[in-house]
Amino acid sequence: MSTHARIAASVYTSHVPAIGVAMDQGRTQDPYWSPLFAGYEPSRRWMDANRPDVVVLVYNDHANAFSLDMIPTFAIGCAEAFGIADEGWGPRAVPPVHGHGELAAHIAQSVIQQDFDLTLINRMTVDHGLTVPLSLMFGEQDAGAPGWPVPVIPLAVNVVQYPVPSGRRCLQLGQAIRRAVESFDAPLKVQVWGTGGMSHQLQGPRAGLINREWDNAWMDRLIADPRGLSEMPHIDYVREAGSEGIELVMWLIARGAMADLADAADAPTPRVAHRFYHVPASNTAVGHLILENP
Ligand code: DHB
Ligand code: FE
Repeated sequence: MSTHARIAASVYTSHVPAIGVAMDQGRTQDPYWSPLFAGYEPSRRWMDANRPDVVVLVYNDHANAFSLDMIPTFAIGCAEAFGIADEGWGPRAVPPVHGHGELAAHIAQSVIQQDFDLTLINRMTVDHGLTVPLSLMFGEQDAGAPGWPVPVIPLAVNVVQYPVPSGRRCLQLGQAIRRAVESFDAPLKVQVWGTGGMSHQLQGPRAGLINREWDNAWMDRLIADPRGLSEMPHIDYVREAGSEGIELVMWLIARGAMADLADAADAPTPRVAHRFYHVPASNTAVGHLILENP
């Protein structure tokens, strides 16, 4: 039994706000929504059996905590707790998100010393980019509960305002997070989540764009060829997956944290514990993967 922290698994999921609304309003069994939520039933069972001590949740803020005033490329939430953002209809009725200040501070120290200039966040609210993935994986929560079932370290990535980071940089950040976690002196079981995507475009003449074939080929490569996939230029995402499809680069951070991308990697490709794809949820193609380290 190792005395250091380790990354046991990574989770990938889209984050459509209407999914949170459907859960909050008790409409998950509506004909429109039930096929989507059925795809997350195995995930919730898996989560019951594979509960981590901490989740590093890679997500993007949608101009709620941040604005055009300040746009960090990569930012880590070091606070003990994060309130729920009001995105225009009042904050979602879900518990506050508790962080893990000690591990977050350690990751910040280690990752910055590995030459990634993370922004430190000591106070912020979190929007649907973070709460919808939590809802999908943990199910409905009592709004009066003190918190979610696990502590969460938010890792915010700018994919909203150009210039956004490259896929290659995202994969490398995941590798740096892995080194950071493995040098933390406590036997914590950690998951890294990559969220957002898949194909969608919310604006302009191509609004409503969804590309099922491209999405599924992208997931195949995420599993089997993450290094090659990380070289995909932004223009390919925008052309093939729509302007908001660029959220997918965040999945490469979680993928970079898996064992087969470690420095002395002799680990096999991770095990696919679950894979799901559903079209559409609101304007978005929903993709979901759970990868376990061997
Ligand atoms: C939708 C998708 C998003 O990624 C988002 O941030 C907001 C809305 C949608 O499909 O409605
Ligand atoms: Fe989004």
